Amino acid sequence: MITVPVELGARSYPVMVGPGARNALADVLPEGARRAAVVTQEAVPVVVDPGLPHQRLVIGPDEGAKRLSTVEELCRAFTRFGLTRADVVVAVGGGVVTDAAGLAAAVYHRGVAVVHVATTLLAQVDAAIGGKTGVNLPEGKNLVGAFWQPAAVLCDTETLETLPPEEYRSGCGEMAKYHFLGGEDLGQLALDERVARSVAIKAEVVACDERESGRRAVLNYGHTLAHALETAGGYGLRHGEAVAVGLVFAARLAHRLGRIDEARVHDHLEVVRSYGLPEAVPPQIDPGELVTLMARDKKATRGITFVLDGPRGVEPVPDVARADVEATLKEMF
Ligand code: GLY
Repeated sequence: MITVPVELGARSYPVMVGPGARNALADVLPEGARRAAVVTQEAVPVVVDPGLPHQRLVIGPDEGAKRLSTVEELCRAFTRFGLTRADVVVAVGGGVVTDAAGLAAAVYHRGVAVVHVATTLLAQVDAAIGGKTGVNLPEGKNLVGAFWQPAAVLCDTETLETLPPEEYRSGCGEMAKYHFLGGEDLGQLALDERVARSVAIKAEVVACDERESGRRAVLNYGHTLAHALETAGGYGLRHGEAVAVGLVFAARLAHRLGRIDEARVHDHLEVVRSYGLPEAVPPQIDPGELVTLMARDKKATRGITFVLDGPRGVEPVPDVARADVEATLKEMF
């Protein structure tokens, strides 16, 4: 088992990565907790034992469960169960569960501890780490949320063995991103070590910028185009696949702007291909719509802002000229 600390002073917590990590649950629960509300989804084939009296609460399926009514239903169920502020919520599942249960934990009794048992690759390397919780509104994704750091995160790599292949591939898109944020060749590492290293890279960024006032933007590497693709309808791409296309686009754009050389663009293509992820924009999509959507990205405070690789590593680059964006997009079909 590899333990990665997330260093946040009084809110620091361990992330345990490895096969069977879920079995450490009882050991990481907050001292004094007397009962646990275990929040999960029906499709999550993972059973946990908190070693305390507990109740299993099943939220709705898929991304649709990331809604305010789920938070209300969970808080009402916590009340009926008699959960107090000294007790604990355990979220078992992917990002939908950790985001919704995390928000319920953040607001129930003005904050009760939460432990995430992340069962998808995407949750292990991204959603369960960092403390951002949230739900969607009909008007947009993640518009209501809170920063609420977990007390611990368990990334059980055994649970990845039963993940549907398309779900696993989606997680690979987020993992591909870390190849360019940590400065080393993650491709050489075994899966457990690669998950742990991805977690460590994210933990370091979160420790520097817990509330997303600057450096955390690098975690959005590849996401500006990815979000535009998803908003435009997804075109059959899952989140991580859209991120993969976004990474290739960001590399090509950085090259056009003279920030990286051709070999570095090739590194991006190699990593994306090594995971069997897509590198092109689906042909049916209108590039003009993508540019308009990217210009609307909530991180775009000055012109179109992208997170791009360069001589100082990956960093936000504001005011990228629309003509460069359009020309780069043309290379992406
Ligand atoms: N929960 C994901 C993050 O904090 O980045």
